Amino acid sequence: MSEKYNIPRGTFDILPENSYKWQYVFRIFRELAAAYNYREIITPIFENSNLFERAVGDSTDIVEKEMYKFQDKKGRELALRPEGTAPVVRSYINNNLQNRENSSKLYYLGPMFRYDKPQKGRFRQFYQYGVENFGSKDPFIDAEVIALGYNFLKKLGLQNFVLEINSIGCSECSKDYDAALVEYFTKYTGDLCNDCKNRLKTKPKRILDCKIKRCKEIAENAPSQLDYLDESCRTDFEQVQDYLVKMNIPFLVNPKIVRGLDYYTKTAFEYLNNNLGAQNALGGGGRYDNLVEQMGGNPTPGIGFAGGFERLILSMETEGLDFGGSVKPFIYFITLGEKAELYAISLLEDLRNSGLSLEFDADKKSLKAQMKAADRSKAEFALILGDDELENNEITLKNMTTGKQQKIALDTTKEYLLNLKKKSS
Ligand code: HAM
Repeated sequence: MSEKYNIPRGTFDILPENSYKWQYVFRIFRELAAAYNYREIITPIFENSNLFERAVGDSTDIVEKEMYKFQDKKGRELALRPEGTAPVVRSYINNNLQNRENSSKLYYLGPMFRYDKPQKGRFRQFYQYGVENFGSKDPFIDAEVIALGYNFLKKLGLQNFVLEINSIGCSECSKDYDAALVEYFTKYTGDLCNDCKNRLKTKPKRILDCKIKRCKEIAENAPSQLDYLDESCRTDFEQVQDYLVKMNIPFLVNPKIVRGLDYYTKTAFEYLNNNLGAQNALGGGGRYDNLVEQMGGNPTPGIGFAGGFERLILSMETEGLDFGGSVKPFIYFITLGEKAELYAISLLEDLRNSGLSLEFDADKKSLKAQMKAADRSKAEFALILGDDELENNEITLKNMTTGKQQKIALDTTKEYLLNLKKKSS
């Protein structure tokens, strides 16, 4: 008896009827990243698990609860990457990218893994796009990185999202702010959820990010980080806002943005689509000026963001946006008779190798069956070659939308079709 194998929980197949959507958003992201002069970096899907423990933080949800950790046959502790920043920082240090040309503005696309509770917009394997920018503390870079993420969503046509920004200060201003939060939340210890009771001892800021109703109500009147910024963090944050205004990027200041990873300093931001339900973050990021040094590199400031493609595509579908059209053949090749079929086989190869997309089904012999298949394939044109036409050095071209047919000289087919393609694209 044959067994049925199910797909692992929290994962899904991207079927041919949808894969063109993914290819489309990948392409637009790559094009925009290139417009900002970012280059792609591709790092392994798994890393030594201590990389994430150190960079993301061992008391974060990602490391504590969500990491896919395993041992290889030699007992090495590995993890499927839950995010892209730590691996990029590792590679930046390992490969001495600091001293290489054009290696400080990096982007990536690829699968990430978190043992999250699967729900709408939240998966255990999900695809992220992201950028990391190394080497500058200039607030202009913050604004530029934020603008890249914003313009990507706009370029896809999305309307229903907002950009929220905050400054979580440097490690110095964080100390005073943490103390103020501990003082405030201690008054409500009995009311906080168990996770937040722990957060009060380890990372009081995380309480501001809790999704539990009572914790959210209490957090409503908590002190604001913005009142605890030192002079330099405050000026930088003001400058980031000034640059965003100059770049025409609308934003809201939300002092409750804390981000769920430990490496952040100063600017933090999120792109939120409030029609998505609980998983409303289309993307998020921020500055991490201490991370490279903390991971063993030379002191190097950094800033970046990442977003999830699943939520992006879901939002585009909800807004009825176009994905550049599904992949379909330009031409469906129909033949009648043995000689015509033999001739077609070599012509097909030649046309495909010149960049045209063609479908041909050698199994179907009747004109009717082939015409039906041509219709179903949604090809723009059909080429029809019979033995008679072959003898007369001609071939019929049918426009599948208008139904109009015309004869062209067989030996000019390639040239003719290449011109046609140029005009139609
Ligand atoms: P993050 O906020 O953990 O940041 O994730 C970024 C985005 O990935 C989220 O806003 C969301 O769109 C998507 N995402 C996260 N988890 C899931 C999931 N389980 N299912 C579907 N989508 C998900 C980071 O990962 C940082 N590395 C961002 C960054 C880059 N900061 C600086 N540079």
